[in-house]
Amino acid sequence: MEKEIIISAHDLVKTFGKGANKVTAVDGVSLDVCKGEMVAVTGQSGSGKSTLMNLLGGLDKPDSGSITALGEELTAVKDTRLAEYRRRKSGFVFQFYNLIPVLNVEENIALPIHLDGKRLPKKELDDVLELLGLSERRYHFANQLSGGQQQRVSIARAIINKPPCIFADEPTGNLDSKNSREIISLFKRVIAETGTAVVLVTHDGSIAAEADRVITMQDGKIISERVRSF
Ligand SMILES: Nc1ncnc2c1ncn2[C@@H]1O[C@H](COP(=O)(O)OP(=O)(O)OP(=O)(O)O)[C@@H](O)[C@H]1O
Ligand SMILES: [Mg+2]
Repeated sequence: MEKEIIISAHDLVKTFGKGANKVTAVDGVSLDVCKGEMVAVTGQSGSGKSTLMNLLGGLDKPDSGSITALGEELTAVKDTRLAEYRRRKSGFVFQFYNLIPVLNVEENIALPIHLDGKRLPKKELDDVLELLGLSERRYHFANQLSGGQQQRVSIARAIINKPPCIFADEPTGNLDSKNSREIISLFKRVIAETGTAVVLVTHDGSIAAEADRVITMQDGKIISERVRSF
């Protein structure tokens, strides 16, 4: 079966700072992400992993290069359109969950929909709570949840808009190995149920080994790409 490319990045460059302080965080990266695949991004601290994720997820703009997501050229759109892309088409999961403490589980999950001025149908919320094993926790606040539960809420929030791709920057970086394994199997279940792709940054070799493809970065460049052999 022909693989369907949903995100295609070409020759991305992103620098920070000026003069002697200039850092080329992403230095000519090209990458395709296909529907339903799990891609792990590894590499040493400072190699540009988070910067690349932010570019692909529309959180930041490259200095040059192009990103085509679902047939739309992201680097050409206005900031308001990019914000719309972030809300509707891309899901982000962070190491420290980034939940809103004054909102309960349901409200945190529905936030991207509400920010878009829409209502979340109850059935869709129920389904996502069920998928992430959070049905019993729907009225709890973030500080009443374990780390693993908080990360499951943030995954629920990331998938609520049915994005074609979820970007997760060290989603298990703050979790023990049991919770980390649970989060990875949840991502796999989400992929199987929704067909979304997952791009995740990890320092953990055993997690990277679960991915369909492992990309290693060094000094802003992709230095190796390994496809998992089944
Ligand atoms: N906002 C910023 N301003 C200045 N420099 C930055 C900024 N963001 C990243 N950098 C620099 O860009 C380089 C890549 O950073 P990045 O955060 O992408 O690395 P990383 O691979 O995610 O590292 P880690 O594994 O520690 O999270 C680093 O040298 C970093 O100092
Ligand atoms: Mg990082």
